[in-house]
Order: sequence, then C-alpha cells, then structure tokens
Amino acid sequence: MQEFLEKKRHDGKKIGFAPTMGALHPGHLSLVSQAKKQNDIVVTSLFVNPTQFNDPEDFKKYPVTIESDILLFENAGVDVLFLPSVTDVYSQGINNLEQYELGFLETILEGKFRPGHFQGVCQVMRRLLEFVLPDNLYIGQKDYQQSMVIIKLTELLGLDKKIMVHICPTLREKDGLAMSSRNTRLGPHDRVTATTIFAALRHIKENIKPGHTKAIKDEAKSMLEQKGFTVDYIEVANVNTLQPVENWDGKERIVALAAAFLSKVRLIDNMVVNP
Ligand code: PAJ
Repeated sequence: MQEFLEKKRHDGKKIGFAPTMGALHPGHLSLVSQAKKQNDIVVTSLFVNPTQFNDPEDFKKYPVTIESDILLFENAGVDVLFLPSVTDVYSQGINNLEQYELGFLETILEGKFRPGHFQGVCQVMRRLLEFVLPDNLYIGQKDYQQSMVIIKLTELLGLDKKIMVHICPTLREKDGLAMSSRNTRLGPHDRVTATTIFAALRHIKENIKPGHTKAIKDEAKSMLEQKGFTVDYIEVANVNTLQPVENWDGKERIVALAAAFLSKVRLIDNMVVNP
C-alpha cells in the first residue's frame, strides 16, 4: 500500500483518508463521499483497534461485518482499503505503548469516563497516518472530542502542516438518532428510546438562555434518566476548547455533549448550540 501511494504521490495525486472500525453505516460513507470530491485517491482503513477499548466487554461485542463492509466501500468508490492485522499495526505488540501529552482534553468528558481511550486512539491514528500520509483526513463530528484529539495529535507529530483535517457533519437516522455502529446492539425497544439523546440535546439547543447552565443540563439529564438511561455526562462546553461553560454570556460558541448507557450500550452525541 505504501509503495502504491508513494507512486501516486509522486505523480502529484491528492490522497484522502477516512479511517474506520468497520460495521459501516451511511455516516462512514459520507466521509468517503466527501473525500472522493476533494482527492484523486481515497484510502479507507478498517481496523477494530484493541488499544482504544477501555471496556473489554465493548471490544468483544464490537460488531464485525467485514464482507458487507468491503462491498459498501467498493460501491462508494474507495480506491484502497487497508485491512491490517493487529501485528501489522502494532509490530511490537500492544503493551507499554507510547503515551501522548493530551493535557486538559484527556481529563474531561470522554477522557474522564473512558480512561486510556484517547491514548489508544492516538496510538492507532499515529500509525495509520504514518502509513498512509494523506493530504486530507476525514473524521466525524459525531465523535467531537476525538476530532479535537486527532487535530492535537497531528500537531504533536508535526503533521499539522502536511495533513488537512476535515470534520464532517453527523449523519442521523430519520428519528434523529446519530448513526453509530453500536446502534445495532440496541434491542427494538431500546432503539426507539435511544432517540431521547437527540431530544435532550435539542432541548438544550432550543431552550438555553444566557446565565447559569446547570438547570438546563439537569433537565436534559432527567429526560434521559426518566427513559432508563444511565448518564455519564451532559455538558455544555466551548466549541474550540471544550472547557465547560457554567455561566453562558449568550455569545460564546458552545456545544452540548452527552454520553449515556441504555442497557449495556454506551451512546454519545453532540450538538452545536449556536453554529
Ligand atoms: P468509527 O467509530 O468506526 O468511526 C469512523 C469515523 O466515522 C470517525 O471519524 C467517526 O467520527 C465517523 N462517524 C461515526 N458515526 C458518524 C455519523 N453518524 N456521521 C458522520 N460521521 C460518523 O472513530 C473511530 O471509528 C475510531 O476511533 C478511529 C478514528 C477509526 C480510530 O480507531
């Protein structure tokens, strides 16, 4: 793959890259279609990265649908699918891997509730980026904090001038639920209830007023709890820094973020309040 891409690069072709863990849905394919528009060669990867699962049960149950994923990628016009084994990616094994200085980003929200998760994301993304060396990288706003971590990683690796990171909008089901590979693990009843996450975020977006944010966050939280969710967090934060906003001036650009369990499935979503 590296030889093939080196040749294309030498011929002046632009390379776009959209990494995934498979179990594809239209959200993943929207990254591919944006990459198709802006590049000559589109590379995807399908790798369920063991080092980013802080919960072994989540890793074990992560849906794997490789055969249909390959067809979907082919139909979407992907030029190269990188489908590595664990040893292809981690030639030295997965223990005692390098750590990244992510600072504040790692101490809040997903960082706080999924210890080690973003280190794993950085460990795999560093390797994937170094293998593919794309001009353009496509990632989803669905994983808002992950996008910020990946941008920070490109800075830490000195790749930020070489790789342009594109954050693509979240694709949703008709009822508002953000598309996610984990949605397939929801039973039929939970699948209907799951849309409450979207409703809770929209409640914040539509009703937040300048001043203290605690009351509106509590309302959103109780919407979820009433439907049987166990909430990890509901937060309102600055769109650029993810610093929680306790007292909103009505102007600062903010995003509402949520993570909650329904049965044993952990769902996350976010919505920019004032785009
Ligand atoms: P995965 O969850 O498979 O997601 C792959 C990419 O698709 C991510 O950039 C994610 O944000 C994006 N995505 C997921 N759901 C989306 C939706 N509903 N709309 C738009 N984009 C969506 O995120 C990962 O894999 C991994 O952490 C990875 C970055 C590949 C590193 O292992």
